[in-house]
Amino acid sequence: MSDTRPILVFDSGVGGLSVLAHIRRALPHAPIAYIADNAGYPYGTKSEAEIASRVPALLGRLAERYHPRLVVIACNTASTIALPYVRSALDLPIVGTVPAVKPAAAQSKTRTIGVLGTEATVRQPYVDRLVDEFASDCQVIRHGSAELVDLAEAKVRGKTPEPAAIQAALSGLFTQPGAAEIDAIVLSCTHFPLLADEIRAVAGPNVHLVDSGEGIARRTAFLTATDTWPDAPSGRAIFTGRGGDIEALAPALPNFGLTQIDYL
Ligand code: DGL
Repeated sequence: MSDTRPILVFDSGVGGLSVLAHIRRALPHAPIAYIADNAGYPYGTKSEAEIASRVPALLGRLAERYHPRLVVIACNTASTIALPYVRSALDLPIVGTVPAVKPAAAQSKTRTIGVLGTEATVRQPYVDRLVDEFASDCQVIRHGSAELVDLAEAKVRGKTPEPAAIQAALSGLFTQPGAAEIDAIVLSCTHFPLLADEIRAVAGPNVHLVDSGEGIARRTAFLTATDTWPDAPSGRAIFTGRGGDIEALAPALPNFGLTQIDYL
């Protein structure tokens, strides 16, 4: 009998869809339970204490309800703050999403990289440790933007972002001393790959955008390498609340293989 347990992919909103796209390519038959914690959105402006208590509790409820084989926390904010608490609360393999500082530093020629995440992520000691370990010879310029998160949410709901709004949201990165030297930006929020074209248009052709999506899919495939899968793929999107204009979002979900909607 095939194993129908889903891979649970978790984010505060649509950001995890950027990670899900990679997981779908790596594991085309995987059943997916995609969770958008829209009742808790946004995470990036919340305190460490709020994230550290909300995320493990919610994932505990979700694990009881959906019996996943593995959990992907497709959110840098939740991962850099709550990963140890989630690991101790759940007896399941957990894949976290943390800023791809290592590959960005490895490819930077100017030795100047940007770390663009949420306000909460860019201040985390977890990011300090990544920088110390993998980018100690680089100038690392950090910027947290809640506006970009909102713009990504709006884009998936069919609202094309104004170039001026992207420019304004990125000005806090590019006006910092030394920023003209940036040749790689770590997209340290899973919402931001959904705006890659728009960010590239502002950052220019010499700046590489680096994210963690492919690495997470590789890790997920590795951890499930001996698993069996159903013959056909399936996916449902699960929302923790009714707000946030889910009607506008619904048409985009089948593009990510999410053909059913549930509410927690
Ligand atoms: N997608 C999330 C991240 O990777 C968080 C966005 C938010 O809710 O602020 O950090």
